[in-house]
Amino acid sequence: PKSTCATVLLFGADGNLASTRVLPTLHLLWQRELLPPDLLIVGFARPVGGGGTIADTAAFREYVGRCCGGSPAAFLQRCHYATGQFDDRAAVGRCLQQVAGLEAERAAGRAGGSAAEGCVRMYYAAVPAFIYAPLTRALCENGVGAADGALKERFVFEKPFGHDTASCEALVADLARLPGRDVFWMDHYLGKELVMNLLILRFANICFGSLWNRHAVKAVQVIFKEERGIEGRGGYFDQYGIIRDVMQNHLLQMMALVAMEQPLTLSAEHIRTEKLKVLQAIAPLAADDVVLGQYSRSQVGCGYLEEPSVRNKASCTETFAAAVLHIDNPRWAAGVPFVLKAAQAVTENKVELRIQFHGVPGAVATLRSCEANELVVRVQPEEAIYWKVQSKVPGLRSDQVEQVRMDLLYSRLARKLERKLPQAYERLLLEVIANDHSHFVSPEEQLEAWRIFTPALHHLRDAKLPPHRYPVGSRGPAAADQLAKRYGMRKFGGGLTPYVMPF
Ligand code: BG6
Repeated sequence: PKSTCATVLLFGADGNLASTRVLPTLHLLWQRELLPPDLLIVGFARPVGGGGTIADTAAFREYVGRCCGGSPAAFLQRCHYATGQFDDRAAVGRCLQQVAGLEAERAAGRAGGSAAEGCVRMYYAAVPAFIYAPLTRALCENGVGAADGALKERFVFEKPFGHDTASCEALVADLARLPGRDVFWMDHYLGKELVMNLLILRFANICFGSLWNRHAVKAVQVIFKEERGIEGRGGYFDQYGIIRDVMQNHLLQMMALVAMEQPLTLSAEHIRTEKLKVLQAIAPLAADDVVLGQYSRSQVGCGYLEEPSVRNKASCTETFAAAVLHIDNPRWAAGVPFVLKAAQAVTENKVELRIQFHGVPGAVATLRSCEANELVVRVQPEEAIYWKVQSKVPGLRSDQVEQVRMDLLYSRLARKLERKLPQAYERLLLEVIANDHSHFVSPEEQLEAWRIFTPALHHLRDAKLPPHRYPVGSRGPAAADQLAKRYGMRKFGGGLTPYVMPF
């Protein structure tokens, strides 16, 4: 049955994730009447003077209004606030009592004061990952996670889950205090429209299915580019770097969806089983298959080390990484490189997947020398799917061939169908409430992801190799192009396309 009431207990309510993603999304969903009508939001963060910035409920309501670009009073009335340290059992206990009191008031206000049947209580950990374990402990010591059934508890934790295999194993053990079926390991890229479309594109279209293997595909690229630098996030970013921030999770998850076999059904269990299998077939990243970079001052902006939020002025943390992974299974083995590239402070904002095909064989020179096909899935901005194919140039001459694009401009399709493309967080928060894990990662997948990246990350840390410098606003270090070239690709028209081997 659909829940009629929900409580969101938002830990880290004064932080970046809460203010830029969670609160605006809750507001939007509530406005669009997609959340249970009886909604309560209780923010929790450290007190002012103890590391926090918000004093009380009145200040929290003002803040929520600012985060959401102005909220109606009816929404703000639903917001409440409590303070304390995240590992302080007593403070967390007081907050839980406050929540229980508010829920009881809410139940009393319902017709006949009916019991909270089907009520969902979501615990959202919008806090740095090292706080997940102490927070979970403080919650469990207050009886959370042992709900008797009337209250449906859900726990949301966001990537990165640890910083290597050992820390992820410890985290998995710590979170095992909570019932696994109620824990949502969030990687918000899985909620993006075109990432979700990957399985449909691949498995509902025979034209893609038959080409999706090493016989036709020469290389796959998964690219994440951001124009902005790390801005005020140095405290977090300098501890992690871009491999841990986006490559080990967002990019690897997209790669898994491109590479996995067809799941038995589209259920969470079957999708996650297939993703896990393909991750298990990926060899650990070799240290010489990765290129690291760090942005430096240019006319466009300051360098990474000059960012005020980066304390270590000799930091070797990477803001750019290109890595090549290989999958050892019958579909991809023996030579299909998967090139993952993540970059900050570069030319543009773009996230895309490029499936690059082999050139055509045969004796006809005009055909053989054509560029190879490429299928591009642009996740953002302007969601699109397009094929690069060869076509005769219109006119009297019969031997002129040109590359053209067959476009499915997804965002235009949505406009035509009068459908709004939802943001990842909108969809994922609704899925948490609906208890659907299809677009969340399993702890087993996380451990596999760390198995792939940990050896190279530890090697790079120990070798203390300085990253290649690249100017803010450039394409990144040239060494990344050399890595791609080593795998038979060359730079072409601003992107990388397969090198068409002469026969
Ligand atoms: C987050 C990373 O997970 O994803 C950020 O921590 C990154 O560094 C962000 O900017 C990108 O998300 P989106 O949805 O804006 O592409």
